[in-house]
Amino acid sequence: MRPIAIVGAIQEELAGLKQALQNTHTVSLGSRQVTTGTWHGQQVVLALSHIGKVAAATTATALIERFDVSDMVFTGVAGGLGPGVNVGDMVVATEFLQHDMDASPLFPAYEVPMYGRAHFPTDLHLTQSLKSAADSVLKNPAQWIDMDVLRELHVHTPQVHTGLVVSGDRFVSTTAESQDLQARQPKALAVEMEGAAVAQVCHDYGVPFAAVRTISDRADDSATIDFSRFIQEVASRYSLALLGTWLGARAIT
Ligand code: ADE
Repeated sequence: MRPIAIVGAIQEELAGLKQALQNTHTVSLGSRQVTTGTWHGQQVVLALSHIGKVAAATTATALIERFDVSDMVFTGVAGGLGPGVNVGDMVVATEFLQHDMDASPLFPAYEVPMYGRAHFPTDLHLTQSLKSAADSVLKNPAQWIDMDVLRELHVHTPQVHTGLVVSGDRFVSTTAESQDLQARQPKALAVEMEGAAVAQVCHDYGVPFAAVRTISDRADDSATIDFSRFIQEVASRYSLALLGTWLGARAIT
């Protein structure tokens, strides 16, 4: 059975996932340690990509080459851009774009040279199944997270969104930058630093790819307030709930 790759950029996000795996082995992959194991009877390779597009692309490539993974799923946090995309919501990506790719005037802005495209869609089937798992987790967040913590972090009725996520090698942490990004990419729901790179690698290799991000901040002047706490107390638990629900459903279909 070919394994499913689960990738995240931040250690704390992956800690809970690692504990959920059974029959684990740790394997070196370049400068990284990845964990292989089983979860809901399925072979899984769990990898920490570290932050940024290059780190994410090399991790994705190594996972495909070394483990011949059947599917790749990225989990993590993102800054909310679109109206109504609030802290505590989840965004399931339908497509990715690199917001800092600009080889103009040789190629149109955002287009990845030689690919003839700026947008990289995620796999429809994987994306739909992740969306169902996200809906099921957020229908009853109290099952997974202490509601007092959510209230303290100003999360009230978390929603699931689907759409464009943009990636770039920049943590967006000013309101001016966020507004500029929204003006340039009005369809973008969220911004992060890895997804578009993994989408491009998976496109190259024909590996189905999907991604889900929990909104940790609004990519504005207050983006860094509560960021670490949010990852530890909310995002990591959402990831565990989401991927456990998703793999559990996959096991019976
Ligand atoms: N990941 C989480 N929040 C982010 C932000 N504001 N900018 C880029 N990546 C992020």
